Amino acid sequence: MKNRSSFSSKLGFVLAAAGSAVGLGNIWRFPYLAAKYGGGTFLLIYLILAVTFGFSLMVAEIAIGRKTGLSAIGAFKSLDSRFGFLGVLAAAVPIIIFPYYSVIGGWVIKYFATFVSGGVSAAAGDTYFTDFISNPVEPLGWFFLFMAFTAIVVICGVEKGIEKVSKIMMPILVLLTIIISAYCLTMEGAMEGLIYYVKPHMGDVSIKTILAAMGQLFYSMSLAMGIMVTYGSYMKKENQLESSVRQIEIFDTGIAFLAGLMIIPAVFVFSGGDKSALSAGPGLMFITLPKVFNSMKLGGVIGTIFFVLVFFAALTSAISLMETIVSIFRDKFHWNRKGTCIGVAILSLLMGIPSSMGFGPLSFISWMGMSILDIMDFVSNSILMPIVALFTCIFVGFVIKPKAIADEVKVANGTFSGEKLFTVMIKWVAPIFLIMILVSSIMNALGIISI
Ligand code: PHE
Repeated sequence: MKNRSSFSSKLGFVLAAAGSAVGLGNIWRFPYLAAKYGGGTFLLIYLILAVTFGFSLMVAEIAIGRKTGLSAIGAFKSLDSRFGFLGVLAAAVPIIIFPYYSVIGGWVIKYFATFVSGGVSAAAGDTYFTDFISNPVEPLGWFFLFMAFTAIVVICGVEKGIEKVSKIMMPILVLLTIIISAYCLTMEGAMEGLIYYVKPHMGDVSIKTILAAMGQLFYSMSLAMGIMVTYGSYMKKENQLESSVRQIEIFDTGIAFLAGLMIIPAVFVFSGGDKSALSAGPGLMFITLPKVFNSMKLGGVIGTIFFVLVFFAALTSAISLMETIVSIFRDKFHWNRKGTCIGVAILSLLMGIPSSMGFGPLSFISWMGMSILDIMDFVSNSILMPIVALFTCIFVGFVIKPKAIADEVKVANGTFSGEKLFTVMIKWVAPIFLIMILVSSIMNALGIISI
């Protein structure tokens, strides 16, 4: 397509895609899953899945985007008109996720503001978090602010907005993560936590470990929601696709691993080795960690740095969500960027309000024990994403055929070293696993099994 924006270089593309991939999921969800599902064994399983399953799906999505020069809806449709529905399903995912992700992004700014203004001990109070999220007005203000930051970057465009911000924020994020994990590892008693994190404990391993790792992988690599299709459509033909995917994976997995080094030893020291403190789920970041920081020497500073890095991670992910939505509307209606961005921001603000108020004035609304935000999360992550990924595999494996993707991968320098692996994964292995994920997450929600 003529005049489509593009990332200026391979590095720009890789950092922007890594910016999307590295998000809240890496920082709180990965460490807690690793601790729960077998430590070193989980790490190993995750790694194997990343270089096989994650690799194949990411290659497929980026190649579809670059080949067609379109975002999800147009891309699938232009390759086969019967598959327009798949683009629509994929587009629904960011539309659902973006509002509530920004609500959580707002919470992160609030915590940053608290820490930077010296409120570390206040933030460690038992009811600080619940008091905050149940307030009818305050979380909305932070949510609006987070959305405004995101919208400003997206309005500035692919090269001047997204690429530029990613090039600044991602290296800083790596540096801050290394600083905090190094600091946490030097605390007395941290080694015990480190060992717990990296040593395999087979007793905790089961089929659930694989399913949990796989679900996490998806979310973490921003797959099955049209994001990588959109970013692929901005990638230049002369940039190598396969090595870009490898670099994005290393970035994403590396940060997830380091996040574990920041969080697990620190929580261990704080709780005196009681690992149940790690299983607090989302509460880990907003309830347990502030207490941990409060108990540490230099905790105010470390906490402030921590929330800056979480903010960067959340912002670059939110940018990719918003850009994907904007790009879908622009491809379809040929609207200008600024107008589309403002429209999408307003719509997403309206959609996010119930998720935010679901912890306060709207807390009477719940479904199977889930708040409004959790319901959005469940529908998008546990239902829509596996369905989109499954159909993407079927689409690539049996409709356009893996060779069509392989040809696109080879455009830059004629090679695709993972081609055989890719073909087997996309046609056979990935679909089987995806069906298992889908079935298990539905059974989990219905309370038949517990993951
Ligand atoms: N990949 C992000 C994470 O790990 C989650 C995310 C998914 C963000 C999709 C944006 C879009 O947290």
